[in-house]
Amino acid sequence: MIATPFDFGPLLAPGLPPAAARWTGFPKYNFVGGHIDAEQIPIEELIAAATSVLGREGRTLATYGLESGPQGYLPLRAFLADKLKRYAAIACRPDDILITSGSLQGLDLVNALLLVRGDTVLVEEATYGGALSRIARSGVTAHGVALDGEGMRPDALAAALSALAQRGVRPKYLYTIPTVQNPTGTIMGEERRAELIKLTRAYGVPIVEDECYCDLIWSGRRPAAIYAMGNGSGVIHIGSFSKSIAPALRVGYMVADWAVLSRLLALKTDAGSGALEQMVLAEYCATHFSEHVRVLTAGLRRKLEALMEALNEQFGTAAEFADPPGGIYLWVTLPEAVDTDKLAPLALAAGVAINPGREWTADGALGKRRLRLCFAHPSAATIRSGIAELARVCHEAFGVPARIANVARER
Ligand SMILES: Cc1ncc(COP(=O)(O)O)c(C=O)c1O
Repeated sequence: MIATPFDFGPLLAPGLPPAAARWTGFPKYNFVGGHIDAEQIPIEELIAAATSVLGREGRTLATYGLESGPQGYLPLRAFLADKLKRYAAIACRPDDILITSGSLQGLDLVNALLLVRGDTVLVEEATYGGALSRIARSGVTAHGVALDGEGMRPDALAAALSALAQRGVRPKYLYTIPTVQNPTGTIMGEERRAELIKLTRAYGVPIVEDECYCDLIWSGRRPAAIYAMGNGSGVIHIGSFSKSIAPALRVGYMVADWAVLSRLLALKTDAGSGALEQMVLAEYCATHFSEHVRVLTAGLRRKLEALMEALNEQFGTAAEFADPPGGIYLWVTLPEAVDTDKLAPLALAAGVAINPGREWTADGALGKRRLRLCFAHPSAATIRSGIAELARVCHEAFGVPARIANVARER
């Protein structure tokens, strides 16, 4: 037995991200991450789907790629091609789709394809923290573009493109979450989508369209995808089953024209994404997807209402937010006195996990008094107790809200 531990330190590659912390379990009031509603996982139907698809095609697990090739399980791609056509107006074939290990792998592939240190990417001024951290880690500047109630503002985009061009900078891509934006929850209308296409085309900038939340709309209606409106050219479309079925499955997808998809495929060196997940999803979704999403979104809406009520009750006018048309997040603005970077660790010590706005904004100053709350996972009762606890901590640290509502907290 060798007693001294081996020291990997001198051997580590340069530029690594900081070491990960060990997982210590979920906090009592978990408003972070993109978890969905545990009660709404369709367990019985997934068991039935697994039994039927394995009984029928289980032997194809003997081959990498399930006899469907490297782009992913063909029946799943066929389901997606049909869904994208019906709901997002995208005319694509199964062969235009690449199944990925979550949409995060899609983002990694795009970055590997396009980014080099020193580049610039255009993003919504408040956007997905996982996209911002990846861009930063690549040594790339995320240039924020202002938002309004319909997403990225075309006038702000035009100004950003022109200012960057004057400095000789051609952004590598524009990253947008047009349908149920993360974190603000807005939906970009088709007119604005057309403007975005026109503006970016004029400057030779492709669009990366992240449609992670497009199924979670209360009205059930979504606009045509930017990919569809751009005729499938100059746009990379990314989607996921994480929010509509389950994030732990790790199944996402990309749509792009073959010139781009073939490059992305060459960068995907994992010999295929998990096969069982793809098989079970294809089997389940073929008959259950639409009804599942209808029930899921109704439940999410009820949780959102519980959250908005709790915020109104606990914070009164100190918490400002817009009622989003879908999704799993509420983007909350608190008074100037509050710094959510300081609030987050204090709240966590009291068992309440929140995402401070700084992590979700290209320019951290915009995020200082903002926070993102994910309402999909906790029950309505836990949401109410968690917000009461958050108000108590925030009151103690910042005097906001000025007074604490008198409600019993869950212990
Ligand atoms: C906008 C956006 N894109 C991508 C992801 C990653 O999702 P996936 O689980 O599909 O990797 C998330 C997760 O929350 C997200 O909010």
